[in-house]
Amino acid sequence: MKLKKIYNENCLTTMGNMPDNFIDFVITSPPYDDIRNYNGYKFEFEKIAKELFRVIKIGGVVIWVVADATIEGSETGTSFKQALFFKEVGFRLHDTMIYYKNNPMPQTGNRYHQHFEYMFAFSKGNPNTFNPITEPTKYHGLANMKNRGHNGSLDYEKIERTTEKKVGNVFFYSVGGGISTKDKVAYNHPAIFPEKLVADQINTWTNENDLVYDPFMGSGTTAKIAHLLNRKWLGSEISKEYVNIAEERLKGHTINNLFATT
Ligand SMILES: C[S@@+](CC[C@H](N)C(=O)[O-])C[C@H]1O[C@@H](n2cnc3c(N)ncnc32)[C@H](O)[C@@H]1O
Repeated sequence: MKLKKIYNENCLTTMGNMPDNFIDFVITSPPYDDIRNYNGYKFEFEKIAKELFRVIKIGGVVIWVVADATIEGSETGTSFKQALFFKEVGFRLHDTMIYYKNNPMPQTGNRYHQHFEYMFAFSKGNPNTFNPITEPTKYHGLANMKNRGHNGSLDYEKIERTTEKKVGNVFFYSVGGGISTKDKVAYNHPAIFPEKLVADQINTWTNENDLVYDPFMGSGTTAKIAHLLNRKWLGSEISKEYVNIAEERLKGHTINNLFATT
């Protein structure tokens, strides 16, 4: 298969041309509950989940970013149904992560503001790679540690505390015009990923030269970030209009212009 390419077709067609155990990592966000009509294309979730399981390598990870629509007063629960179906086809539900939007669209009515989407991390067996994002610990450096000695006296020992710890599984991002990406052309697509989210997930679950696939490439965020992080990549996008946006976007970036603010 040709890499560094967005196939303008149904992702089922692209995956149908892939051998088993081909892809290291998938990050994607599918069409949600027909919230948006992406030029009217049909989305065959169950077939797609099965194909993802076939084409991902053992130890590969799929990050599935999804939220529910509210229909006739109730959230649909589609996210949960999809997560359980991924388990049925053989994936582990490795981690239910949250994509927290610092600045969501305000909600009216008797619900709190909708601040998050799921980032389900599914894995085919135990993940091959985990490069956790870390943050400084609150207290670090040398500390005095009290030990009770053999004769009952208190001895003081210097210990080195770790300076970094893994972050939690809620990832926080600001979103919107000029923030999710600096690439103006991307905003012609209605539902783009923040670039930083894609970078954080790719860095966590892959190493350089691993192969990243996005079956719903949209404006090309996954392609751009995988490329800049020296990963191999390919994608599918059913709408020609969006493939054009993605290609325009990929032409325009430079390494110094990688991310907008987080
Ligand atoms: C939520 S958007 C993805 C946006 C993307 N994450 C980005 O950063 O721009 C979902 C995309 O899936 C595309 N799509 C819908 N059904 C598809 C299918 N069966 N195969 C490939 N693409 C499809 C839609 O045209 C839409 O652009």
